Amino acid sequence: MTVRTPPLTPYPLRVLLGRIAREWETRRRIFDLPTGRFYSHDPAHDLSFEMGGRRPSNPIGPAAGPHTQLAQNFVIGWLAGARVFEAKTVQILDELEIDRPCIDMEAEGYNIEWSQELTLDQSLEEYVKAWMMLEILSHWEPLEPIIGPPGEHVFDLSVGYDLDGIRTERMDRFIRQMMDASEVIDRLRPQIPPPFERFRDHDFDPHIGRSVTLSTFHGCPPDEIEGITRHLIDTYGLDVIVKLNPTLLGFEEVDRLLHDVLGYRDVPLDRHAFDADLSFDRALRLIPTLSEYAAARGRRFGIKLSNTLVVGNHRNKMPGDVMYLSGRPLHVITVSLLDRLTAALGDLLATGADPGPVQVSFSAGIEASNVADAAGLGLRPITVSSDLLKPGGYGHLSAMLKRLDQAMTEVAATTLEQWVAHQEAEARRSGHRDAVSAYAAQVTGPEGVAHYGADAVRRRLRHVDHTLELWGCVSCNLCVTVCPNDAMLYLPTPDTLADELSDRWQYLCLAELCNDCGNCATFCPEDGAPFEVKPRLYIDPDRFATATGPAFFIGRDGDSLAAVPGPGMQPELSRLLEVVSGPQGLPLRPEDLTPIGHVHRPEHR
Ligand SMILES: Cc1cc2nc3c(=O)[nH]c(=O)nc-3n(C[C@H](O)[C@H](O)[C@H](O)COP(=O)(O)O)c2cc1C
Ligand code: SF4
Ligand code: SF4
Repeated sequence: MTVRTPPLTPYPLRVLLGRIAREWETRRRIFDLPTGRFYSHDPAHDLSFEMGGRRPSNPIGPAAGPHTQLAQNFVIGWLAGARVFEAKTVQILDELEIDRPCIDMEAEGYNIEWSQELTLDQSLEEYVKAWMMLEILSHWEPLEPIIGPPGEHVFDLSVGYDLDGIRTERMDRFIRQMMDASEVIDRLRPQIPPPFERFRDHDFDPHIGRSVTLSTFHGCPPDEIEGITRHLIDTYGLDVIVKLNPTLLGFEEVDRLLHDVLGYRDVPLDRHAFDADLSFDRALRLIPTLSEYAAARGRRFGIKLSNTLVVGNHRNKMPGDVMYLSGRPLHVITVSLLDRLTAALGDLLATGADPGPVQVSFSAGIEASNVADAAGLGLRPITVSSDLLKPGGYGHLSAMLKRLDQAMTEVAATTLEQWVAHQEAEARRSGHRDAVSAYAAQVTGPEGVAHYGADAVRRRLRHVDHTLELWGCVSCNLCVTVCPNDAMLYLPTPDTLADELSDRWQYLCLAELCNDCGNCATFCPEDGAPFEVKPRLYIDPDRFATATGPAFFIGRDGDSLAAVPGPGMQPELSRLLEVVSGPQGLPLRPEDLTPIGHVHRPEHR
């Protein structure tokens, strides 16, 4: 795979909202998510909880990562049921070059991303656009019969990685504008296009961020964690959650679980990374200290278990010496860490039927099969990254919520508190200290190994012996569902091309939304990377001017969609136009696009 690192170029709010209206009208989908994957809240259950002074209507959502970077990602997650969004981590170094590919989700998950690739100003605008779109869709009549009353949602900020960086004027401005986004909202209002124009004067709540998760990097000293937490509480009055690393469990125990119990024997651990990180004993002093500090100032402190685990790069699928492990093995490690912390901190943690003051947020290998167990421990919020990068993508969120609803229905629990009380009572009845220790025993025992162990997780992906081409393929749709940015889309092959193209669907890449993460290439059963081989559509003239590969500019000519071919693509132009202009063609409104007369072809540079 070639290593190209073009910047992500977010779509303007006008184009995104225009797409929602057009896609709904022509295909009854939004950002490729079919209505069958929209989540409709079961009114018999109250899944709400308190966070940052709001009451999100359920505790599930995407973790800081690729699903909380671009504005449309939040919309897809929200439609699938997410009500807590941990925004992609921002930091002062906001022009990072991230190596590609950066995601490897073939079995257990690995990545080499570590914070946003957008600038701070772009991230701010993406989060505000997302906030405005969710507010608009919450009041949009066509959705009402499908999702019902959606209830509240929460955006949790995520910042890293050192106090000096967080104190800079640019980071300060970012945090303050997330806490009061009035200026940005007013700047974006005129972009709201005609299908939604009644929302131009809508009373958007400008107070987007009321809580923050501090993502600590490996090696972050405890004093620094303490200093940043105090700074965020004192300066901004935010509730603070500290995201801890799984190294906290200690080298010997992680080594035993990962290698001996779960069978991931080839995954190299680095003892130095464990030595450099926060130790368990120090965490036992840090957590009560910061909880008291926050409480004395009327704020809440919490911990998040856990961040990814640093391991050696034994697969050489991504560049660099180290990578970060997530997914199923991390679930077992992190539950074991939770068990150890619960045993040591007793009533301090907000787990179980009699919750203490320290909120415990969870992200590690959450999926439909374990989300009810996690909710039954009192963990809130419960966020996900790896499972949403597997086939099915964002649709897994609605499946998780349905599983939680189902589990609660079976025991006649109508609130999360009742569900937690039921799980706690069951655990004690079976002789465990509490529900956390019962669950830890389950995931590290034979039942857990059968599900989370290497033998269960490392299955060969489907492969067909065919080289991927510009048009046509086995149409498995996997590239669409695994893309966190909805950068791959599919359109029906128009009848006019039926003699030339035998496949029913054609797949295309929205180039500005693709960051070459490589995830679609992992899952495509054909030989080739969808994001490189399929037609790459640009709507930004500057990005098109430097385009390579099978590139086309999509704009307008009068009231119609029009295209300009990139180098070598002239022979494919008429086919492309047929595909994008069909009745269920490209769901972008010509009036939101640039006239093609203004566009320079790459070969003319
Ligand atoms: C591709 C990718 C990017 C991530 N980026 C971030 C990030 O920017 N900040 C952060 O705190 N965690 C980040 N994470 C970690 C996730 O938020 C999450 O804590 C972790 O992946 C464990 O959850 P999972 O097993 O559901 O993936 C990232 C994870 C993945 C897979
Ligand atoms: S199209 Fe493929 S490479 Fe591009 S962002 Fe989506 S999954 Fe990643
Ligand atoms: S490009 Fe690959 S992943 Fe996408 S639909 Fe075609 S065969 Fe499936």
